[in-house]
Amino acid sequence: MSESTYDVVIIGSGPGGYVCAIRCAQLGLKTAVVERWPSYGGTCLNVGCIPSKALLESSELFHQAKTEFKKHGIDVDPTFDLGRMMKRKDKIVTALTRGVGGLFDKNGVDGIQGLGSIEGPGRVKVTASDGTTRILQGTSIVIATGSEVSSIPGVELDGVHVFGSTEALSLDSVPGHLGVIGAGVIGLEMGSVWRRLGSKVTVFEYMDRPLAFADEDVIAEAQRAFRKLKLELRLGVAVQGTEVIDEGVRVTFKARNGDAVESMVVDKVLVSVGRRPNTDGLNAEAAGVKLDSRGRVIIDDHFQTTVPDIFAIGDVVRGPMLAHKAEDEGVAVAELIAGKSGHVNYDVIPSVVYTAPEIAWIGKTEAELKEAGVAYTVGRFPFQANGRAKALESTQGFVKILADARTDRVLGVHMIGPYVGELMGEVALAMEFGATAEDIARTCHPHPSLSEVLREAALDAGGRVIHF
Ligand code: FAD
Ligand code: NAI
Repeated sequence: MSESTYDVVIIGSGPGGYVCAIRCAQLGLKTAVVERWPSYGGTCLNVGCIPSKALLESSELFHQAKTEFKKHGIDVDPTFDLGRMMKRKDKIVTALTRGVGGLFDKNGVDGIQGLGSIEGPGRVKVTASDGTTRILQGTSIVIATGSEVSSIPGVELDGVHVFGSTEALSLDSVPGHLGVIGAGVIGLEMGSVWRRLGSKVTVFEYMDRPLAFADEDVIAEAQRAFRKLKLELRLGVAVQGTEVIDEGVRVTFKARNGDAVESMVVDKVLVSVGRRPNTDGLNAEAAGVKLDSRGRVIIDDHFQTTVPDIFAIGDVVRGPMLAHKAEDEGVAVAELIAGKSGHVNYDVIPSVVYTAPEIAWIGKTEAELKEAGVAYTVGRFPFQANGRAKALESTQGFVKILADARTDRVLGVHMIGPYVGELMGEVALAMEFGATAEDIARTCHPHPSLSEVLREAALDAGGRVIHF
């Protein structure tokens, strides 16, 4: 069995692993990345963020051509070719995953295909698809093995009738009636895609509202948008099971607080009830790396696992399962390994849901501030009063800023509206610099732009909104 020696061996090439590898190489560390899949980039690039956004864009353009173009004086009778739509998505994925390989070459990172398992401190065994094995010795090891689709009791994923997000990104025909279990991020994004392309979509959600952790006003507004799209939401119901029958799939559910069992027959079912941390085949526990009760690798504040010099980042550890969170942890752990002071500010991690309109938030919600007894002011401004939004014919939604009543420091921002995900960069920067609402209000914003809504909300927090 051949052996190679590195400063850092990273297991997994998702946004956590590949960004960590590049930062390690920049810091002069000899670095290898082990990846079990044939392409780099992990869930995000292969079967997550990127392909879902490609399909969201294509389906939204089709939907707009059907419903919105006539408002601009454009008459069209659009049709679509699902095969070509999927090919466009695949092309984007291929370009980006190959791009990661290019970045490895540019930075002198060794990308190694195969399943990585930890043999013990400093030793990673790589089993290639042809069964051959080799040992990589690494002074430090970083576990960046991400997450996998999960399910609930009574719901078996067969990949054809009942499936997770990966299959939902590659269907070869539009389901007549798609059942979706879970009105979280994946359920709403993928539900929107297939609804816009013509499926009847019924989303079953355990909680009384979709995206239960987001701001209440934002969700109330989002529900209006989902109703307009005719995305059927069955809220407050617990799915009990699914059964594949001749007519399709029978979904059995009951009201969360009731006993009566109901059922609905749909053609296909997307299961989007959350993801589970992935440590399959990693041999983590045998190597002394402890997991918590939810299967996540336990780490301390410096990403160190229960074994010295074995670190873990991204979806496989605590915190939100988001690509940018994994990337930031990748950079931080690389810097810590190199003897620098890597750090992630978990108070400033944005969330964006790419529905139409988009939904985005960062920092504290009103509910959290109330519970913590923090006095705050609220500034709010609607897209309805914004010139760029009117020109876009996309005026639904608003920006809401929560600022500390005593210091005016921005504590949270909650948005729904056109491209609000793009406004989030400015908000995150402001919060990183400890900005007050007054700082945002006094900053010159371009006109006409959607970012003016953010500025006006900041002005409103100080009681001096101009355009509303
Ligand atoms: P992953 O990206 O999961 O990468 C882990 C990698 O490790 C994989 O390539 C895997 O094959 C490899 N691996 C695992 N075990 C081994 C092993 N033993 N040996 C070798 N290799 C191994 N997040 C956002 O921020 N924005 C979005 O818009 C967004 N959209 C999403 C849409 C969907 C449909 C899904 C499913 C997820 C989405 N996410 C989004 C979440 C995002 O994809 C994850 O948070 C992110 O990919 C986590 O990065 P990671 O590096 O921790 O793990
Ligand atoms: P999620 O955690 O966002 O939502 C799961 C939903 O399923 C919850 O609302 C939950 O109440 C519901 N649920 C659970 N059991 C149920 C049952 N028996 N019956 C009915 N409803 C039930 O998980 P999701 O959507 O699978 O996404 C997984 C992760 O992927 C998320 O944590 C997210 O961070 C990430 N992601 C991020 C995206 C983005 O940033 N735009 C896009 C897609 C995914």
